[in-house]
Formats: sequence, C-alpha cells, structure tokens
Amino acid sequence: MVAYLLAQNPEVQKRLYTEVVTMIEKLAEQQETEIETKNIFTFFSYDAVNLKFPLLNAVIAETQRLYPPAIFIERTASADVQLTTNEGTVLELKAGEVVHIPVWSLHRDPAYWGKDAGEFKPERFLENSSAALKNAAYLPFGAGSRMCIAQRMATVELRLALLHLVRHFRFEVCPEKTEREVTFVNQFDINSPKAVHLRIVKRRCEN
Ligand code: HEM
Repeated sequence: MVAYLLAQNPEVQKRLYTEVVTMIEKLAEQQETEIETKNIFTFFSYDAVNLKFPLLNAVIAETQRLYPPAIFIERTASADVQLTTNEGTVLELKAGEVVHIPVWSLHRDPAYWGKDAGEFKPERFLENSSAALKNAAYLPFGAGSRMCIAQRMATVELRLALLHLVRHFRFEVCPEKTEREVTFVNQFDINSPKAVHLRIVKRRCEN
C-alpha cells in the first residue's frame, strides 16, 4: 500500500527519494564508508533508521492510517465495569461483553483528522502534537497491554525495506492496469489488498 500511495503521489515520492539518498550519503560520510558497497544496511544503526528519516517514517505511518491491516480490534470485559469517555459518555459493560473498536473508521474520521481525512498527507505525522494521537484515534498496532508485541520489529523492517526500494526504484501508476480503488480481502481479521498493479522503474543513479 505504501508503493501504491507513492505512485499516486509522485511529489511525495520525490521528496522521500531526496531524503533517503541525502541521509545515506551523510551517514556514509560520517562513518567513512564507501556508498558503492551494495549492502547499505551494514552502516545503519537501529537509531539511524528510526530517527534520521522523518519523511520515510511519516509515509509509513500515514499509509498505516489509511490502510491499517487490522481494521478492528476487540476487548472482552473480564468483570462488570463502567467506562467514561473523554466526552463524558458512560458505558456500562457486563463481564463477557465484547467491545469492538473500529480502527479503520477511527483512522478516517474527520472529527480527529480533519476534512482531508481521506487524503494521503504524511505531513500529519511530522507534527508531533496531533490531537488524534492523544485521543487514541490512531491504532495500527492496537493499544494497551494486548497491543502488538512486534510493533518495533515490524516497523524497523518496514523502514529498511522501504529505504532500499525507494533508493533503487520508482513506483508509477500504470494507466491501463493500476487500480483506481484498491479492494481488499479480509482473512482472520487481516485486510490484504486483492491486487495492486504498478509500474516499477529502476533508477539509473545507483547511489
Ligand atoms: C506492520 C505489521 C503489523 C501490524 C500492523 C500489526 C498489528 C497488530 C494489531 C492491531 C494487533 C492487536 C492489538 C490489540 O488488540 O490491541 C496485533 C497483535 C499481535 N501481533 Fe502484530 N502486527 C504486525 C506485525 C506483527 C509481527 C511481525 C508479529 C510477530 C513477529 C506480530 C505479533 C503479534 C502478536 C503475538 C499479537 C498478539 C498480542 C497479544 O494479544 O498480547 N505482529 N498486531
């Protein structure tokens, strides 16, 4: 889905490419490493991947907002409980009752994300003080004690994979084949795109 959104938003893809190549050059310089070494991953520290590529991280976060693989999560009340929402609404739950948390809908709700909630705007995640994050309206990995145990691992893998792809390839819309709207299959609560067709162009500049 990241590739799909980058193909639809070439201006973002261009900025991302610039961020990636510029930072890789800088990191290589700092460590006096030759960039021509094919395996750029040898000089990335965990911190560098996570902290030095803000747009890369924002692009992934925004993709996970628009297309969270887990479109809802659930919690079962283990005892009778009364919950009060931020707005003051009181929810009475009996032990055994299931609460369904609609992640997909929360991620696209204009009440949290503004009128442009449906648009791909990675900039949202460049500003840290997003009201949506405060209100737990962003839950790609769930929340609380049963949230995804692999959030950090999955995120660092995603970042590395995307770094590598963006550096070497450009994603383009293919007018005859690229889906205007992606449709999904939902298996075991995981939403996967049925198909995404793109043109993938190898960049000539290898650095
Ligand atoms: C981008 C990739 C991933 C996403 C978006 C994701 C998302 C999620 C979500 C939404 C939940 C439910 C959280 C909740 O109910 O609050 C979850 C749970 C879980 N995830 Fe992930 N996940 C990802 C990758 C992984 C990977 C790679 C692993 C294992 C290597 C993993 C292992 C688990 C486990 C074991 C749980 C259950 C935790 C529990 O019930 O205590 N996830 N994940």
